Amino acid sequence: MRIDKLLAHSGLGTRKEVKKLLKTKIVEVNDAIVTDPKTHVDPDTDKVTVGGEPIDYQEFVYFMMHKPQGVISATEDEMHDTVLDLLEPNDSMQEPHPVGRLDIDTEGLLILTNDGRLTHRLLSPKRHVDKVYYVEVEGLLTEGDIDVFKQGVVLDDDYETMPAELTILETDQDSHRSIAELTIREGKFHQVKRMMAAVGKRVVYLKRVSMGPIELDSSLELGSYRELTNDEINLLKEV
Ligand code: URA
Repeated sequence: MRIDKLLAHSGLGTRKEVKKLLKTKIVEVNDAIVTDPKTHVDPDTDKVTVGGEPIDYQEFVYFMMHKPQGVISATEDEMHDTVLDLLEPNDSMQEPHPVGRLDIDTEGLLILTNDGRLTHRLLSPKRHVDKVYYVEVEGLLTEGDIDVFKQGVVLDDDYETMPAELTILETDQDSHRSIAELTIREGKFHQVKRMMAAVGKRVVYLKRVSMGPIELDSSLELGSYRELTNDEINLLKEV
């Protein structure tokens, strides 16, 4: 890859800024000064230093975000901000994308990465990665609903979902509302909302709390994010 791209992706500035940096003759590749932004380097084998300090280039980036309502989990949108707008410029440099979608009014765990192979694995319909949602509904959830979900629910388009696990946390007769945790193994469009609609309930609040082995970090404020730890990345790669 070009040295200017590597330096920019390592957080040393925009391509323009990096070009200026190269002119100052403090960038070395394998101990030789490099000034040409087009110079080709191999991040795996070449030693790149700036002012004598080695560059820590990571090809892939992995983040977990606590997605707030009101932003779209896509890379671009004409009407609304996307989750990418919540990233610091340095972190969007390597063009991460959201792994799967959460609705605009859904909060919770969203993984972002530029590792396309991992995204493909996590979203592959063959892998059945568990997704756990905390859900509040209008209506009283029942033991019968648990059984229906266990069997697989027929949605409004006649699709029958895979078995899902519903745990009722609270039912309130006065407000006629319930709170539950729902584990699904697919990612159909509006799946939780449509499953709840199939048993006559309306979702009023939805939050994803985990995806496969990754749980939403409870210290992450709505709209904030952090890098995944190496352990979390390794767990994801085992999925
Ligand atoms: N199911 C939904 O209905 N919406 C989401 O955002 C995620 C799962």
